[in-house]
Formats: sequence, C-alpha cells, structure tokens
Amino acid sequence: MALLRFDNVSKTYAGSSPALSDVSFAVEEGEMLFVTGHSGAGKSTLLRLVHLSERPSRGTVLVNERNLAKVRGRKVPLHRRQVGVVFQDHRLLTDRSVFDNVALPLLIAGTPRSEVGKRVRTVLDKVGLGDRERALPLQLSTGEQQRVGIARALVAQPQLLVADEPTGNLDPQLAAEIMQLFAALPASGTTVIIASHDLALVKRMRQRVLVLDHGKLVDDISPEDLAA
Ligand SMILES: Nc1ncnc2c1ncn2[C@@H]1O[C@H](COP(=O)(O)OP(=O)(O)OP(=O)(O)O)[C@@H](O)[C@H]1O
Ligand SMILES: [Mg+2]
Repeated sequence: MALLRFDNVSKTYAGSSPALSDVSFAVEEGEMLFVTGHSGAGKSTLLRLVHLSERPSRGTVLVNERNLAKVRGRKVPLHRRQVGVVFQDHRLLTDRSVFDNVALPLLIAGTPRSEVGKRVRTVLDKVGLGDRERALPLQLSTGEQQRVGIARALVAQPQLLVADEPTGNLDPQLAAEIMQLFAALPASGTTVIIASHDLALVKRMRQRVLVLDHGKLVDDISPEDLAA
C-alpha cells in the first residue's frame, strides 16, 4: 500500500496556466525522494497539495489510501499532524525560545505537558541542538535555525515529512549536513519528500528523483539510474 499517491493531479491557480498537469506517482513508506525542476515547474505546488495548503483542480491525492478531498474542516489539523513541513525560511517565532518553537505543534495538539518536554528534548538531540533549547532563534546560525525548523516538523512524529527548498539559504557544507539529517529519517519510519532545484546536491544524495517541467512529471529516476 502506497503511503502517498497522486492520481492524474492537475492544479491551476486562478488566472494562470496549469502549475501541475496530470501528475501521477506513488511513494512507499520509508522512501526518501526529491522533486526537482526549474523555477515555476510546480515543486512547491506539489508539496502544498500534500499538506493541504492547496487543493487540486483535478485528480486525487491519497495518503494511506485516504482521498484528501474528504479531509475537510476539523480533519485538516489532524492530517497536518501526520505531515511535517519544513520551509526554506523556517518561519520560527523570533520572540520564543528554541524549546517553545519546537513545542508549539504539541501544545496545539493538546499533548500533556509532561510528555512535551520529553519529546522536544528527544527531537532537539536528534538534530544536534540538545544544548540550545533556551536560545532565541536569532542567537543561532542559519544552519541551526533550519535545524530548529526540522525539529519542529518532526516533533509530532509525522509519517511523512515534506521540505520545500530546505537548504536554499545554506552554504554547500551546511546543505550537505542538513541532507544527511533528512537521509537518516527513513530508517526511523519517516518518509521524506524534498523539493530542491539544486541538481548537483540532489544527484549526490543518490535517491529517487521526480522531475517536473512546466507542471508535467517528465521523469521518475531511480537511485540506480542516478548512479550511472
Ligand atoms: N498562489 C499562487 N497563485 C497563482 N499562481 C501561483 C501561485 N503559486 C504558484 N503559482 C504559479 O504556479 C506555477 C508553479 O509554481 P511553484 O511555486 O509550484 O513552482 P516551483 O517549482 O516551486 O518554483 P520555485 O523553484 O521558484 O520555488 C508558477 O507558474 C507560479 O507562478
Ligand atoms: Mg518553490
């Protein structure tokens, strides 16, 4: 059973040409894959359909065989708990500590306080920030800030993590470190989808790559083919 499936999905924003057109693919649990393509190819749009910040114009998106068209109203936040999201600009609250930023999704979900501290510390350790929980985001380096964003996306233990250009603001060395962090996630049960236009970086990761071109899925490259 696929964890995520796009069946003939198209998305047209009002007043423009299709951002996605007739896109179909499936992702199995425990995979890590990249979505790449030129600026405007539809990468962000594809991810937005997965975490329900947009809806398809045609076709169906399924998570665990559940049609997301049926996920509405109060079910949307429940769905979002299963799908962690990492943004390029991390979107941290600058007046809250690292701890508070990471705890936020749990507090919103009504997780008991006693549980919150434990979970936040576990995930901060995982991203290598175990000793920075009291810091404010602006007291951290760009790479560390991005790690906090990743910790926040992981803290609710989502089945699926989607990251949109998560290394877009980082130098190559830091980008590589963040990618290693993502690459370790499938082993602990989190499926990972990363949008990136950095082809060199994507190729080095030796993972499956979906290639978008003007909204069309033009290639689905397996890691074996990438190595060639
Ligand atoms: N909210 C929106 N309203 C209208 N058009 C949009 C909106 N978001 C994206 N688009 C258009 O949809 C197309 C796909 O955009 P999208 O952001 O998905 O591309 P992308 O591959 O993520 O590009 P980039 O690499 O620049 O982030 C583009 O033509 C874009 O202008
Ligand atoms: Mg984008």
